[in-house]
Amino acid sequence: MDSAGSIKNVSVEELAEAVTFPVEAYVSPEYARAEDEKLWGRVWQHARRVEEIPNVGDFITYNVGRESIIIIRTAKDKIKGLYNVCSHRARQLIDTPPDQHSASGFRSGFTCGFHGWRYDLNGKCTFKLDEPDWKGALDSEERTRLTEVKVDTWGGWIYINMDPDSVSLKDYLGDAGRILSPFEFEKMRYKWRQWVIFDCNWKTAIEAFMEPYHVEGTHTQMLEHGQYYAYSKAYDLHGVSGFDERDPSLKMKQSGTITRAGKGADPRASTYNLQNEIYTTVNKASTTETLVNAAKRLIDELPEGTPAPDVIKHWLASAREDDARRGVIWPTLTPDQQAEAGLAWSVFPNMSILQGITFALCYRARPYGDDPNKCIFESYAIERFPEGQEPKTEWVYAEPTADRWGLVLSQDFSNMAAVQRGMHSRGFRGTLPNPHQERKVTNFHRNLANFMGTGGLSLLK
Ligand code: FES
Ligand SMILES: [Fe+2]
Repeated sequence: MDSAGSIKNVSVEELAEAVTFPVEAYVSPEYARAEDEKLWGRVWQHARRVEEIPNVGDFITYNVGRESIIIIRTAKDKIKGLYNVCSHRARQLIDTPPDQHSASGFRSGFTCGFHGWRYDLNGKCTFKLDEPDWKGALDSEERTRLTEVKVDTWGGWIYINMDPDSVSLKDYLGDAGRILSPFEFEKMRYKWRQWVIFDCNWKTAIEAFMEPYHVEGTHTQMLEHGQYYAYSKAYDLHGVSGFDERDPSLKMKQSGTITRAGKGADPRASTYNLQNEIYTTVNKASTTETLVNAAKRLIDELPEGTPAPDVIKHWLASAREDDARRGVIWPTLTPDQQAEAGLAWSVFPNMSILQGITFALCYRARPYGDDPNKCIFESYAIERFPEGQEPKTEWVYAEPTADRWGLVLSQDFSNMAAVQRGMHSRGFRGTLPNPHQERKVTNFHRNLANFMGTGGLSLLK
């Protein structure tokens, strides 16, 4: 509340100040219903990966809130989005069983399961049973074709937008697209992909991955090998975080990303310890086997006393060579580009990318119907593989346990329902996000409020 007692939204500059916002966005059924129109109906949202529909006729469904969308490859270089609804009497053309993540497969066209109307891959209605009964009223193709949804791709992701008047995907991504494009995510492929239903709002789930501020409280075991103080920065709709130093004199250009030295006097050992810990406790993601193996050799390849920046340089160069030998060519990123890209991005509204030079660990949370206390959560690792050696993957429902997701993610998951329950307490007075380390969270709510036409954030003083 400001001094007049009303809530107002803050500017980007004011995100550096202490702000607060109310719990309505997490708990209110009316808010959840309004999101369907004001948020999901207007934003670019990543639906799936391009690699999932390599051949003409391959399709997948993407469901969000009340909508189901068919995404289908209609030509070698063309992907189309169609609302999954028959123009006759609204039967969904493709069923997604309730316990399934989505539907996928191959179609040469669509036949409705109700009265048998047929459509081609482009959505044109090609058969209406007893069409003469309409006496020409359905002659116009526009009357009966499936309604299109805007589709575009970036980084190997398929994005959709239900708003015909939206800005382009390129403009929507803005600086996030510019800064992340050199990682060439389109050359990565799924390593694993899992999903689960949480008893929390989709924002509760995705915000757990917007900041490393929680490492000290949630992943206490990680403090042995690394420090997790972080900056958090807004780029218009989106935001990035990276590792930071509480003491600014300790800052190094390369210490903001996942490929950095760990805690300890000997960076040869600490780099390996940190990488090995990440690999073994973050479900073989957030780094690669190549990087871990190259880090393991540092102690033999470099003399004692090698300064940390030289250790990192040697490590990355030798990992790059190892990968090249097996046919995985690294993209070229300058140290400045890597520093600007930081550790992890939030692409508005619900996409999280923790990126590295040959890999990314991604999260997404979507509403579960219009229930504000439930969400569909997904996480997947993508990586560059030698051509022809990409693993075959599919969406796997995985209970939120350490043996299915690794220790670290299971620790994150243990907070979800507990935060959601807390949001409902009359003893909670509104969130108090960290002005330095959780700015991605506040920027997210600043933008969310703008879409929703609600008050948003207010300065604490
Ligand atoms: S609802 Fe599809 S053919 Fe009738
Ligand atoms: Fe975490």
